Amino acid sequence: MADVEHTIGLLLGTEDDWPRAYEAMLRRIGAVTDDQGRTHVTRSVRVTIEPFNLRDSPRHDLVIDRLAYWYYHPREWLKKIALMDDVYLLNSPFTFQAMEKHAAYCAMMRLGLKVPETVLVPFKNPLDNSRYAYTSGRYNQPFDLEALAESVGYPMYMKPYDGGAWVGVSRIRDVGELHAAYDASGERLMHLQAAIEDYDVFARSLTIGPETMVMKFRPELPMHERYAVEHDFLTPAVGDEVVAISRVVNAFFRWEFNSCETLIRGTDVHPIDYANACPDVAVTSLHYYFPWAMSALLRWTVYCVVTGRKPRLDTDTSRYFAIADDPSLSYAEKLDGYRRLADDYFEIDRYQEFCAKHLGHVDDVVADWIGSEEFRLLLGSTVREMYPPHEHERFLGHFNGLIDAWLRDHG
Ligand SMILES: Nc1ncnc2c1ncn2[C@@H]1O[C@H](COP(=O)(O)OP(=O)(O)O)[C@@H](O)[C@H]1O
Ligand SMILES: [Mg+2]
Repeated sequence: MADVEHTIGLLLGTEDDWPRAYEAMLRRIGAVTDDQGRTHVTRSVRVTIEPFNLRDSPRHDLVIDRLAYWYYHPREWLKKIALMDDVYLLNSPFTFQAMEKHAAYCAMMRLGLKVPETVLVPFKNPLDNSRYAYTSGRYNQPFDLEALAESVGYPMYMKPYDGGAWVGVSRIRDVGELHAAYDASGERLMHLQAAIEDYDVFARSLTIGPETMVMKFRPELPMHERYAVEHDFLTPAVGDEVVAISRVVNAFFRWEFNSCETLIRGTDVHPIDYANACPDVAVTSLHYYFPWAMSALLRWTVYCVVTGRKPRLDTDTSRYFAIADDPSLSYAEKLDGYRRLADDYFEIDRYQEFCAKHLGHVDDVVADWIGSEEFRLLLGSTVREMYPPHEHERFLGHFNGLIDAWLRDHG
């Protein structure tokens, strides 16, 4: 019998691969002892969707959410359990608005990050709202789209202000493409954003709590090949900056499970998409990096419940802006300042000490399980569900090979 028991809720959509992996490995982690010598056992349950009284008490200590961005009923449940019950959430449900990219662009521009020039244009087509015609007739200024585009500069990207999954994103090289894309945007609100051309590396980093994995991303390839298995593709200084930016964005918005895309040209790091809280962690996307993602998720969630880390819904916006607005500081000095705030938010030192002392076995649990028959069966069934029959053999070979490579490197 453990002294304390904790329950982690998984709020899920269609995926079954990483949840099964997480559940199996959490069971294997077993009891964890804290600094006072008390033993803690942590279990996971899947969250179901049903009517809830706002005064009901949930049974969860922490919830990992992969659904609420798309599904409003559980989103409102998350707000309720955050406000009323202090349930620990990996992403604050109150900064969802910023996950619409636009607010995140604004905040990071104010912090001085090298976000490309970005303009928000009004809707192309009238909204389906009886008052819109009157309002737009009275207040919408006519504007010259071509001149606006000229000021951003070609080539550029037109993309939804609240985008995700590349939907509605187009690359614009000339006036013809500009009009075609704007006409097609209809009732979607669009940004025009200067393209970062001829970049050296597209880095996509996945952050879970205080842990970040920076991966080399190849957006031009099919999904299963986008994450290259490559190490040392950034200089230490640029690698550090990418990690700092990922951590700062997250701490600023109180996100702890998010991915961040930066384009690196020379020594300049340009963030272009960093509001992907609820990121894809499917084994068929992350492959070689999947075991890392699971171990980080296990460590951070267990750390949070065992140490009783308190959720911090309040944001530190003004502390970040005080650094941002100080004209005596260079870009590097500002980034250092933000990073200190972020490291403090994530309790980096305490976390590392706790992991070394109490969670040293997690890496072995993960390596053992990833090497097990159970995991290979899970990988097999995921591939069979995802790809048409004539591609099964090819993709089974592909993903099993990448997992073998991970086991060789980490076994
Ligand atoms: N400013 C930019 N410069 C260069 N490429 C870009 C830029 N903006 C978007 N892209 C390309 O378009 C893709 C999708 O845009 P992104 O902003 O990431 O939207 P989504 O949220 O749909 O992923 C990016 O992964 C990148 O390949
Ligand atoms: Mg993106």
